Amino acid sequence: MTKVVKLDRDNPDMNLIDEAAAILLNGGLVAFPTETVYGIGANSLNPDAVAKIFVAKGRPQDNPLILHIAEFQDLFKYAKNVSNDSLKLAHQFWPGPLTMIFEKSDIVPSINTAGMNTVAIRMPSNKIAHTLIKRAGVPVSAPSANLSGKPSPTDASHVISDLYGRVDMIIDGGSCDVGVESTVVDMTGEIPTILRPGGITKEMIMDVVGSVDVDPVVYKKPSLDVKPKSPGMKYKHYSPDAEVYIVKGNIGDVIKKIQELTEFQLNNGKKVGIMATEQTCEKYRNGEVLVVGNREKPETIAKNLFRCLREFDKKGVDVVYAEGFDYDEIGLAIMNRLEKAAGYREINA
Ligand code: TXA
Ligand code: MG
Repeated sequence: MTKVVKLDRDNPDMNLIDEAAAILLNGGLVAFPTETVYGIGANSLNPDAVAKIFVAKGRPQDNPLILHIAEFQDLFKYAKNVSNDSLKLAHQFWPGPLTMIFEKSDIVPSINTAGMNTVAIRMPSNKIAHTLIKRAGVPVSAPSANLSGKPSPTDASHVISDLYGRVDMIIDGGSCDVGVESTVVDMTGEIPTILRPGGITKEMIMDVVGSVDVDPVVYKKPSLDVKPKSPGMKYKHYSPDAEVYIVKGNIGDVIKKIQELTEFQLNNGKKVGIMATEQTCEKYRNGEVLVVGNREKPETIAKNLFRCLREFDKKGVDVVYAEGFDYDEIGLAIMNRLEKAAGYREINA
């Protein structure tokens, strides 16, 4: 049975936090909110508990997990050879939506790291997440709380629909602030390398450490010639049931192109979804139009992206046309997730 509890994100009931912490310490699974997306957590130090995560999500065993910590000094328990740049980034962005990859210490059970000698670590800022980890007193391994392949959950209702009956507890802490998963940065090389873009942008990291690389898989469909450093990047992701297309170009042309394509699909008896913005939604007369956010405030688009993809599925559309966005700042994370949702199908307007 899954127990669903509601917690105030700013002032969580400590009795319920302790109940959740006890579940973790007993080897159970707890889904909880973070500032990025909801996670499905287990005690990282208990390999049997961690194994349950892979079963509950249907996650491939070769995709490693992020260890979530609540105290800075824990970094040195689970990571080795922590560089100066890593410390600078931790001080600037932790707690917050940044995950760093380090050499792993021996006490991290290898099931977390898919047998690799590196480990991903992050300190979430969401108060429910932070307090839960602190009270449990152990690191918490937590991938996004969706069934593998589905869009990440940004609201407890998404977690309930994917994982009810598969976890011991689901904590409902409202909707997530950032809406896309944390930025993953490999700190084991000479220059920090972004493996997955997120709320902490390339520009923000550059400001702190001077230089940063972006792994080619961030921009490109993983193929045989580009071997992803981050195993998770090679899997199908965020896929709604509908076929998603990104329509790119200047916004006037994009609107015209989407209008034409929608017309064509409707004439063929298809149900069409359009992922539009506050600035453009009124231009579309046909199709199921959802507003993902405001083009002038791209963080609103990140926040609503996965929710929109799930809503198109609920509406049962066959095809979704999504307007494209710029690749700078948080736009890099938005386009990376959209491209995966679209299986890299793009149309130039
Ligand atoms: O925002 C987040 O990071 C959320 C919340 C719940 O904290 N968690 C999350 O976890 O997105 P998950 O498992 O869905 O994604 C973790 C990503 C995967 O792409 C995985 O391959 C990569 O991090 N990763 C984990 N450990 C790694 C390692 N040692 N080396 C390279 N990539 C790693
Ligand atoms: Mg995930």
